[in-house]
Amino acid sequence: MDKIAVIYWSRTGNTETMAKMIARGLRDGGIETELMRVSETDASVIERYNSFAFGCPAMGKEVLEEKEFEPFFAEIEKRLQGTPVALFGSYGWGDGRWMRDWQARVTASGAELFEQGLIFQTESPLVTKIKRAFGKDKKPDEAAYLAFGTRFAAHIRAERRR
Ligand SMILES: Cc1cc2nc3c(=O)[nH]c(=O)nc-3n(C[C@H](O)[C@H](O)[C@H](O)COP(=O)(O)O)c2cc1C
Repeated sequence: MDKIAVIYWSRTGNTETMAKMIARGLRDGGIETELMRVSETDASVIERYNSFAFGCPAMGKEVLEEKEFEPFFAEIEKRLQGTPVALFGSYGWGDGRWMRDWQARVTASGAELFEQGLIFQTESPLVTKIKRAFGKDKKPDEAAYLAFGTRFAAHIRAERRR
């Protein structure tokens, strides 16, 4: 039986919103899915699931969050060979380099990267404040995250049949 773990780190909730919707999409797509914060697990999780969706925002200087997520990912990436992996996360003022670097690591690990990493770019706090006053602040696109989860589920099911 295919089981997927959706493992994420999030401080202000953007990546968490993505994680929840992707998990829902995976379940809608018929995959047994468990959602967890990275602080609730460790690299031994690789032994209990066949596929993974990892979520982490850009932190530090265009890198994964360094206290919890990076040590976890550094450990697990050595053991991802042949595993279907989807990536997602939110970022702010950068140009998304953290996700490009992360994708390259996943590919180099021998994992099977699903599509491109799914991203949500926030606005600067000032722009958000102004737009919010007019009811036009940018919100995470929940329907897109749900659809990403459903597509990943279909991909996993197709792989299983091969
Ligand atoms: C300490 C810190 C460092 C950050 N570093 C970056 C960065 O290097 N590049 C970037 O695009 N955004 C950066 N951001 C913005 C976050 O990626 C963005 O706010 C994101 O939506 C946070 O995700 P979360 O709501 O899941 O915690 C940083 C934010 C914080 C608080």
